Amino acid sequence: MKALILVGGFGTRLRPLTLSLPKPLVDFANKPMILHQIEALKAIGVTEVVLAINYQPEIMLNFLKDFEEKLCIKITCSQEMEPLGTAGPLALARDKLIDDSGEPFFVLNSDVISEFPLKEMIEFHKAHGKEASIMVTKVDEPSKYGVVLLDEETGEVKEFVEKPQIFVGNKINAGIYLLNPSVLDRIPLKPTSIEKQIFPKIACENQLYAMVLPGFWMDIGQPRDYLTGLRLYLNYLRRISSPLLASGPHIIGNVVMEETSQIGEGCLIGPDVAVGPGCVVESGVRLSRCSVMQGARIKEHAVVSGSIVGWHSTVGEWAHIENMSVLGEDVHVRDEVYCNGGLVLPHKEIKTNIDRPEIVM
Ligand code: GDD
Ligand code: MG
Repeated sequence: MKALILVGGFGTRLRPLTLSLPKPLVDFANKPMILHQIEALKAIGVTEVVLAINYQPEIMLNFLKDFEEKLCIKITCSQEMEPLGTAGPLALARDKLIDDSGEPFFVLNSDVISEFPLKEMIEFHKAHGKEASIMVTKVDEPSKYGVVLLDEETGEVKEFVEKPQIFVGNKINAGIYLLNPSVLDRIPLKPTSIEKQIFPKIACENQLYAMVLPGFWMDIGQPRDYLTGLRLYLNYLRRISSPLLASGPHIIGNVVMEETSQIGEGCLIGPDVAVGPGCVVESGVRLSRCSVMQGARIKEHAVVSGSIVGWHSTVGEWAHIENMSVLGEDVHVRDEVYCNGGLVLPHKEIKTNIDRPEIVM
């Protein structure tokens, strides 16, 4: 079975992290976002993943080379010369997606995280026997997503409205599809939106079915949602009693920590924290609802809460980083500095307080 992951777009909403790496390679719970997806695809028997990409394919491919071997899965790129939207890339990758088997293939948005119940999706798709299946999930704020109206009993999609201005419903497109090859005949090789131009048509012909996704789901393409997604994901790890969760007297709630990170005396870590590989967390540090990425150093008695600390950054002694601050790669915050919601671009040094949310460039 094959799969295509939509990895185009510049990930602007996840800046400053995406100034250093393409969005799918940004770590989520200590693993590049896209690896969560590739592992889930591999687990249900996908043998080839096509990355639909419109810039920097070499960075992605180099990065994923190791994993290709480790996971025993073929990873290739299909590169657009101009952004083709969310459907055009499928037409471009047509030859890679179709083979003699006539099997359906998966399509995933690269910035969604869930339990990826792909096996259940295959069964659902077989059971209704129509052209296309999508996963849907319930959210409180549907307007920033694709909203789906469906027949609750059969799952048949009655209407698909991308980013509606007025309330249509609260079940939304989760960005995980299983499509028959025939769907490709509906997509022209030009910039095309699957949500606006393709799904509404398929729904009109009663060929689109939606399955309500069991378990958690989040689009982690912006900092606030990224941290919410982290909480949900760690919660899920707790539910399955995952050995990845850290334990000990200094741990509160759900925390993942790489073995190669060092934790000093008297720290308090959690809930909902990820500490990446090679990090140094000095003594007396307080971390909660945050992600600290590879090689970062949090100095004595600093506090990081509700924020993301990018790769190889340092947070000074007694400094406070809070309220959805995002420090890009290699940012250095001086001792005792307070950072309230600052988005700090890579390679900056922060010498004075950031009192209210702002972009520091
Ligand atoms: N190759 C390629 N080319 N990929 C693209 C392009 C493009 O021109 N434009 C966007 N993508 C990729 C993005 O990288 C992402 O993985 C996916 O397509 C969806 O784009 P987003 O920009 O993240 O869209 P969204 O979050 O506003 O909305 C989409 O996702 C929601 C769920 O998270 C839609 O599919 C909504 O219907 C859905 O609810
Ligand atoms: Mg998105």
